[in-house]
Amino acid sequence: MTTALPVPTLNVGPAGLTLEGVALADIAERFGTPTYVYSRAALTAAYEAYQQALGQRKALVCYAVKANSSLGILSVFARLGAGFDIVSGGELARVLAAGGDAGKVIFSGVGKTRDEMRYALEAGIGCFNVESAAELDRLAEVAASMGKRAPIAFRVNPDVNPNTHPYISTGLRSNKFGVAFTEALDLYRKAATLPHIEISGIDCHIGSQLLDPAPMAEATDKILGLVDQLASEGIKLDHIDLGGGLGIRYRDEEPPTPTEYLKPLLERFAGRDEALCFEPGRSLVGNAGLLLTRIEYLKPGVEKNFAIIDAAMNDLARPALYDAYHEIVAVAPRSLPATRYEVVGPICESGDFLGHDRDLAVDTGDLLAILSAGAYGMTMSSNYNTRPRAAEVLVDGDTVHVIRERETLEHLLRGERPLP
Ligand code: LLP
Repeated sequence: MTTALPVPTLNVGPAGLTLEGVALADIAERFGTPTYVYSRAALTAAYEAYQQALGQRKALVCYAVKANSSLGILSVFARLGAGFDIVSGGELARVLAAGGDAGKVIFSGVGKTRDEMRYALEAGIGCFNVESAAELDRLAEVAASMGKRAPIAFRVNPDVNPNTHPYISTGLRSNKFGVAFTEALDLYRKAATLPHIEISGIDCHIGSQLLDPAPMAEATDKILGLVDQLASEGIKLDHIDLGGGLGIRYRDEEPPTPTEYLKPLLERFAGRDEALCFEPGRSLVGNAGLLLTRIEYLKPGVEKNFAIIDAAMNDLARPALYDAYHEIVAVAPRSLPATRYEVVGPICESGDFLGHDRDLAVDTGDLLAILSAGAYGMTMSSNYNTRPRAAEVLVDGDTVHVIRERETLEHLLRGERPLP
């Protein structure tokens, strides 16, 4: 197992862990726990790794908002010039509130409502990734009612196996996503006849936490075959969107860098003039964030010892939901022998664990950092057990910006009422 911490801007200092120029202990002192802590430098470096890999190629990186939709995070990417991949009207509202450019927004998702379509057309988004024949009809009708033309790409399901967790595989024939490869040609032919539809591109996304570039290269070959066939019929596409999915290191995975991941794809694009588009989420934010939490109790048991912390599955659902591994480290380890703990939250479910069998040299009241929690952490959090959601802070050098205040019980009860 490699020993380097997966969060690149996290360092071990004399007073314990620091993120960029700020001690995690100071953050806990000032803002309480549990708190999500992000590093602006790590977010920027992750984005720039894509830009560097793409070089001079006509391309747009559209950050997948679902991975972390906090306005503070979105504003970092908006300032870097990113586009955004959204899956709801709510995500569009966030992108606009964060200063994102509507023209660089692509709208994915299998269930877009009429209201969401109207909102997106009004805002002037860059492209709708259409996922079914019925959606095409609905979009054409909504655009006509507004006297507009809707720019579209079909999300084509290339039917390749991405070799990842079944819950996050999306490009198999058995998945609900995209239009079948075999139906795509006919759908483009139909779209080309619709006056309120403007064909702009093609899209595919095969899954998430991908560690092997080969399935993406296979999908790209299939997509390019289709693009060339369309061109031979006079349907010329402006952009090709290859989705997101690049994995990150949580434990000992060795994911390709964006340069390594994109290399076989860029090779296939040599000499082509379509713009390239990507929708990365996890690889831009996952290792730029951690969840800072405090140990409430240590509870020695007959079979297992428990470290009961103030964060829980409502804050970070991935371990409970996918049995996902997140590195857990003591912010200031003590000089005592490590004990093996089940790291668990206060929620009334045995599935409420953040980590199994972790060796930690800690005492009650100590701080822990749950690493690689920047993606699908806060966005999948809930209020289960009526627990207010964590605060979020963004570290920028020596400065700490609160990008989301800790929720209060008033927030939680707002809008509810008992029977009169
Ligand atoms: N584009 C589309 C159409 C997607 O469905 C997704 C993710 C992405 C882009 C971004 O994929 P990424 O680069 O982040 O892999 N909650 C799960 C992950 C679900 C991913 C859903 N779709 C997790 O915590 O692992």
